[in-house]
Amino acid sequence: MAIGSLPVAVSLRFTQTVRMFSAAGDPQPRSIAMARRPGLDRRTFLRGAGAGALLSAAGVKPAGATSIAQGLLGQEQVFDFDEVYDRSGTHCVKWDGAVEDMGVPIEVAMGVADLDFRAAPCITKALADRFEHEVWGYLRRPREYAEAVAELNYRRYGLEIDPGGLVWTTGVHPGLIAALQTFAPPGSRVLMTTPVYSAFYTDLTFTRTVSEDSPMVMVDGHYEIDFDDFERRAARSHAFILCNPHNPTGNCWSEADLLRMGEICLRHGVVVLSDEIHCDFVNAGQTYTPFAALPDKAIVDNSITFKSASKSFNLAGMKVSWWFTTNPAFETRTRANSRADLPTLGLAANHAALTEGEPWLDQAVAYLDGNQDFAESYIAEKLPGVKYRKAQGTYLAWLNMSEILQAIDATAQADEQTANGNRVVAPEDVLQRWIAERAGVFLNPGDNYGPGGAGFMRMNLGTQRHRIRIAVDNIAEAIATL
Ligand SMILES: Cc1ncc(COP(=O)(O)O)c(C=O)c1O
Repeated sequence: MAIGSLPVAVSLRFTQTVRMFSAAGDPQPRSIAMARRPGLDRRTFLRGAGAGALLSAAGVKPAGATSIAQGLLGQEQVFDFDEVYDRSGTHCVKWDGAVEDMGVPIEVAMGVADLDFRAAPCITKALADRFEHEVWGYLRRPREYAEAVAELNYRRYGLEIDPGGLVWTTGVHPGLIAALQTFAPPGSRVLMTTPVYSAFYTDLTFTRTVSEDSPMVMVDGHYEIDFDDFERRAARSHAFILCNPHNPTGNCWSEADLLRMGEICLRHGVVVLSDEIHCDFVNAGQTYTPFAALPDKAIVDNSITFKSASKSFNLAGMKVSWWFTTNPAFETRTRANSRADLPTLGLAANHAALTEGEPWLDQAVAYLDGNQDFAESYIAEKLPGVKYRKAQGTYLAWLNMSEILQAIDATAQADEQTANGNRVVAPEDVLQRWIAERAGVFLNPGDNYGPGGAGFMRMNLGTQRHRIRIAVDNIAEAIATL
């Protein structure tokens, strides 16, 4: 149901929850190694109040009568994340790609990590404004773009970034690739803690480097780093790709963990490449600690941080990201391998998101936290053979489905398909297809995420909550037929 059509009392209650969340989520500025830019904290920032009015002033109309919550309650606009927004037919990887991959209709696509929500209105308005001007030539990158990144990071995390040292890229991957080409020559090893985001492996293939996988261990339902193994592998690696929060397990690494990883890497001459693209999705009671905010200058100077608004504001197709480091030599050397030609619309969308989008982001984070709670309890109720404990961060759920794999005899099927085909098929690939065909749900198979992924499937919860319900119900019905 659209918020716009809710009774006032219900809408008010929702707004209050959001406010409480925002207040609790306010970070305390931390003392960190990066250069302090005078005046940064004295700036005033646009908050999203009145975005709806701006939209109509710009002649941008919501597609449906109830599609964007129009009412402003106090100063805060309420966004409707339950609104169904049909993405199929837009060449999106998540929905159209899933149908193409599986060759069957998909009712709920829960693969690639993006969101099914309508964009923040401030983004749509900025794009509409830019369309008013019908010339699309080469573009400068005014300092205000880098300042918008620095200001948002300071505001949310107390993280101080020198805007002059920010390096633009067309994605986190191009940034990581530039750094790998700088610090990890072809044939050298790159440390990762697994299971880990599958596409890091493609970055290694691209740079002709080799993964040095350090499998994490499960302690009380949570993944932890095996530091003895980590150090053994660090000793023979050139770089470490840190993922914080960690995709797919959702770990928000603590300051103590980060310091320990950082200290080991420093001691062994391993450069830390910290991918913090999921940093805004941190569930209630958890904390995101930026690597660059660690209280040890030598450890921070041994790192580069890669970030983007593409997860936070769902702008992955807009191709704007950035990296920064406190180490001038790292910056010079990595810049030499970096080239980014940023798209006009991407910059317009990102600038609007960074300067005006936080009310939307805060509500999206709260909604997705609610999705995690719902998924944890509904899976426990409907899918007793699936084990899931709510993630600390990210909108991803890393499901232990080993019982279901056994029930469908996935290993035998995988072996048979491998023997009869021309590629290696994993049991999780068999389960992925089984769920797509029997339940109309698309999940990512755990074997893609390196050692430790066997028996698991990744479910993207970045969607309308009722779609999570449908997905779980469909999978439960399919299992009931076994
Ligand atoms: C940890 C992580 N890094 C990077 C990316 C993709 O980054 P980009 O699209 O900016 O290259 C993703 C997307 O899912 C991700 O989860």
